[in-house]
Amino acid sequence: MAKPKVYATHELFPDARKILDATCDVEYWSQQERPSRDELLRRIKDKEGLVCLLTEKINDELLRAAPKLRIASNVAVGYDNIDVDACSKRGVVATNTPGVLDETTADFAWTLLMAIARRVVEGDQFARSGNWKSWNLDQFCGTDIGGKTLGIVGLGRIGSAVARRAAGFQMKVIYTNTKRIPADVEKSLNVEYRDMNQLLAESDFISLHVPLRPETRGLFDSPKFHRMKRTAYLINTSRGPVVDEAALVASLESKTIAGAALDVYENEPFIHPGLKRPNVVLAPHLGSATVETRTKMAVMAATNLVSIFKGQMPPHMINPQVLKKS
Ligand code: DGY
Repeated sequence: MAKPKVYATHELFPDARKILDATCDVEYWSQQERPSRDELLRRIKDKEGLVCLLTEKINDELLRAAPKLRIASNVAVGYDNIDVDACSKRGVVATNTPGVLDETTADFAWTLLMAIARRVVEGDQFARSGNWKSWNLDQFCGTDIGGKTLGIVGLGRIGSAVARRAAGFQMKVIYTNTKRIPADVEKSLNVEYRDMNQLLAESDFISLHVPLRPETRGLFDSPKFHRMKRTAYLINTSRGPVVDEAALVASLESKTIAGAALDVYENEPFIHPGLKRPNVVLAPHLGSATVETRTKMAVMAATNLVSIFKGQMPPHMINPQVLKKS
């Protein structure tokens, strides 16, 4: 019997390819640049499965172009690139990769926090420049982390992993969340609940860990920046559009906040020119970028995809109702 035809918009990692190739006839996009929309729509025409990255919009247009599609398997936990309703209406299963990237992404939020607090990037650029002539008492003085207050917006899996790491720095950790977590979990994480305004007023560092949804788009806007301490820093490893970038730039220009460290942007890979300033650390969406974690994500995405063709439930479905109905 012919294997089901699948399109993968990336070469993936060998462990994931093994899983896919054993069950499916896979066409891989092998260039570093992402496939253009036209290319993707052309390639997907006769495919029953798709392995995609967060750079691909899985919407009605794509689904119309792929009448045989049964599954769109995202190699990411965030799935704001997928129109889940459109998939469900057409009976297409959508899957993601939760869990495997929490610790790695939390590490990266801390990497950014420490980099901005201790001016590592500025120092690196200066050290390379040839302009370093002598040690100086007030050179690149940053701010202490130990003993400060960390505010976590969104205490899910990644937010909790960020909170756990704060213990090593003797920080006070406060959080805000759509739902307050049970008291015993608060105790074990050593976190205290605050409403958003209290969190903004008290935090020295604010780290964002909410998914991008209509209600979180532009969540961090001008009024929020004005409620933050002038000495506070914003860390964002969630999704760019959670922050109103123009408002952030204005707040940095007016010194309403001290700085920011960002991994994600409103219109990736475009970076607002106003963010390219010394008191902002910029990373190109690296939160989960370790070989170990990206391999686990690709393997999970491959496993999700092949499940459908083996007549099994994919382990990480975003819209399980699609299979329950049939
Ligand atoms: C995700 O998984 O949503 C990340 O942004 C990519 O690691």
